[in-house]
Amino acid sequence: MYDTVNELNYRKTKMLILGIDTSCDDTAASVVEDGCRIISNIVSNQNEIHKKYGGIVPELASRRHIEMIWPVVDEALSRAKAGFKDISAIAVSHGPGLIGSLLVGVCFAKSLSFVNNIPLVSVNHLEGHIFSIFLERKPEFPFLALVVSGGHTSIYIVEGVGQYVELGRTRDDAAGEAYDKVAKLLGFGYPGGPIIDALSSSGNPEAMLFPKAALHGSFDFSFSGLKTAVLNHIKKNPELKKQDIAASFQSAVVEILVKKTIETAKTKGIKRLVLSGGVSANSALRNYVMQKACEENLEAYLPSLYLCTDNAAMIAAAGYYHFINGERADFTLNPKAYLPLGSADG
Ligand code: KG4
Ligand code: ZN
Repeated sequence: MYDTVNELNYRKTKMLILGIDTSCDDTAASVVEDGCRIISNIVSNQNEIHKKYGGIVPELASRRHIEMIWPVVDEALSRAKAGFKDISAIAVSHGPGLIGSLLVGVCFAKSLSFVNNIPLVSVNHLEGHIFSIFLERKPEFPFLALVVSGGHTSIYIVEGVGQYVELGRTRDDAAGEAYDKVAKLLGFGYPGGPIIDALSSSGNPEAMLFPKAALHGSFDFSFSGLKTAVLNHIKKNPELKKQDIAASFQSAVVEILVKKTIETAKTKGIKRLVLSGGVSANSALRNYVMQKACEENLEAYLPSLYLCTDNAAMIAAAGYYHFINGERADFTLNPKAYLPLGSADG
């Protein structure tokens, strides 16, 4: 039995946010109810386009976004069985990211908002990553958030919605970037993270001892020395097994990330850790952080794998909280390639 009247009343009391993300190489749109229930979540990735280059080609990324933005948004709405009249707000990520890619999503969201008279909310892409966990669980504030992706590796204290203090960040490469570069050195395509992750399962993580930059006395990270060490190893020892190089590299990255995050939590007296961003899909990182958090009596929150990498459900989730706080973006909204979380615009 299906009660149509009740279903309609139920719908009216719920708030649907349309999220849009085009910050890098994924065109994504999602409809999320009340900041936590995913109704649809469409991601069109560009891996086939970029894999032969071993990294993202920005010009190709923005051109593909232009082709895909309308079909992806249309699919997100139709899977949600929603029209624009059902949408309470449009949330769009306006940075940080590739400027040409961001422009597509921001201009598209502004046009939809204008034509359909729907409020617009801007979301920092990194904040979106942090809020991906809210689609599944609600960690109590304050918590420590490690955002570890292709473009960023930072630790924040999250005091509440819109209240972020960056404690540390990478001084050179992001962890995901290091994964992608090492995969390229080993002759694999893009994105390299999932390839190295899979390859590592049959490799020996102790085959090579790669450097693990500790940067004592700071909450920062560094991965460029590690990447160079892998390069030198490959040049000097071409006979080495790729799976051993992958596993040894991964073990160094995971140890750096987990040690620093746990140390930071202990120094700041914070009991909850949230991991997010593409690299948080890494199997070794997930296992090690759970193990260490348990040993240190900390609670670790890990989003499901499909919410770690770029998606628009996380943008809709963060956008929901800004929307109910009364925040609105206007048509002067412009994307920003550099947009630190916690800054005036971010
Ligand atoms: O968050 P994301 O989808 O996009 C950015 O905002 O950058 O992260 C993409 C990054 C890529 O560098 C990719 O290689 C990495 O996340 N990645 C992984 C895994 N899955 C994706 N790195 C390690 N292990 C994985 N399983
Ligand atoms: Zn991202």
